[in-house]
Amino acid sequence: MSRLIVVSNRVPVPEHSGDAPAGGLAVALQAALEEHGGIWMGWSGKSSGTREPAALDLKDRGKITYALTDLTDKDVDEYYFGFANRVLWPICHYRLDLAEYGRKEMAGYFRVNRFFAHRLAPLLQPDDVIWIHDYHLIPLAAELRQMGIQNRIGFFLHIPWPPADVLFAMPVHEEIMRGLSHYDLIGFQTDHDLENFAGGLRREGIGNEIKPGRYSAHGRIFKGGTYGIGIETKAFASFARKSASHAMVRKAAASIEGRDLIIGVDRLDYSKGITQRIDAFERFIEASPGQQGKVTYLQVTPKSRSEVPEYEAMQRTVAEQAGRVNGALGTVDWVPIRYINRSISRPILAGLYRMAKVGLVTPLRDGMNLVAKEYVAAQDPDDPGVLVLSRFAGAARELDGALLVNPYDIEGTANAIARALSMPLPERQERWGKMMDYLNEHDVVRWCDDFLKDLVA
Ligand code: UDP
Ligand code: G6P
Repeated sequence: MSRLIVVSNRVPVPEHSGDAPAGGLAVALQAALEEHGGIWMGWSGKSSGTREPAALDLKDRGKITYALTDLTDKDVDEYYFGFANRVLWPICHYRLDLAEYGRKEMAGYFRVNRFFAHRLAPLLQPDDVIWIHDYHLIPLAAELRQMGIQNRIGFFLHIPWPPADVLFAMPVHEEIMRGLSHYDLIGFQTDHDLENFAGGLRREGIGNEIKPGRYSAHGRIFKGGTYGIGIETKAFASFARKSASHAMVRKAAASIEGRDLIIGVDRLDYSKGITQRIDAFERFIEASPGQQGKVTYLQVTPKSRSEVPEYEAMQRTVAEQAGRVNGALGTVDWVPIRYINRSISRPILAGLYRMAKVGLVTPLRDGMNLVAKEYVAAQDPDDPGVLVLSRFAGAARELDGALLVNPYDIEGTANAIARALSMPLPERQERWGKMMDYLNEHDVVRWCDDFLKDLVA
């Protein structure tokens, strides 16, 4: 394959990742970029105030060039917080009620995508293969095409794609759908997302599937497919094994004093179902008096997108809820919920996952949910824990050894927690073994290869 050009809103430049080790996506894309040589372009995460940002900041690392651009305050407000995270994010997570549509934000979104195209185009060579990631950059291909760029361009959506009726409630859905038709390949996490996309095309009368995996819309023909993202399974399992001896993990183990650990790890985001999960935990304790003082529920929840009002409000809601439950259920020597509002590095998370008897992953809607996969990969084969997983996470379509729950059903989730904690070893091993086989086979390197193979085919 020719050179690879990756574009995403956030770019994990190696030396910037000291405090947050690169996730699977970065590892896989960096490997593909190393193999073919290439560029990873995106936002620096910084703002240039009101001034037009300076030229791209280029950093060469082996065969990879990282190309970062600042944005103005207005750009960040309108494109990132305003449209990407206050319109597209809620709409794609089926939350019409939370979408705050504004023309200024929409204009900012398209403006920043055009700006990205103008910064990227001069770096491109005719046979480069371009791979654009996620909802921040849907119109980027259309902008590049308008500048005469004819290269292969693929797009992968890391989050869900909503059903037509939800999508159509977004005033600019036509422009967004037209933007997608400029790609050569569009990748979704699950078949369900792809079906929603095809259903939207049909319902709007703008396109249809002309043969399996091939679509026609807006006068263009393009491919669409399902590529559920994986993790770096073997590497993750290996650092979970090693991190048992990490000082911080040992301290955590000592502090739970032999109690069973239940773990939840999510950015503070309304799509993650954190409040419903705390309710389910409370219900579980109330319904199982024998478990009082015997379990600790650790919820790791780093702050996210705090400038978006819905996220800011959630910080208070969840902290108050955890405090209320601890007040109501706790005793002088037992704090039922440990709520951490900070990010924890992945190697330490791996050790905590391994200690936990139950991984509680109960989003109301999620593209994939990598925490679910990491929890499974981190388990001790001789004594694996149980994954309690929302049926509305993309991962539920792959991890058939999990206990699937409807996160809106508080009692059902409470019952699943009880069942997970009392599950006999042979059943735990059988369930875990099936999931681990799947994760070994479908890791993030395979995900990357499958997508790129179809993009260049
Ligand atoms: N993560 C982390 N530290 C934390 C919380 C999460 O490194 O304190 C990582 C986690 O290990 C996973 C990613 O962040 O790799 C979250 O991915 P996921 O798909 O579960 O959710 P997202 O945040 O992308 O919606
Ligand atoms: C999800 C999105 C990513 C995004 C991440 C963190 O995983 O799919 O595109 O980078 O959340 O959100 P943030 O807004 O901090 O980049």
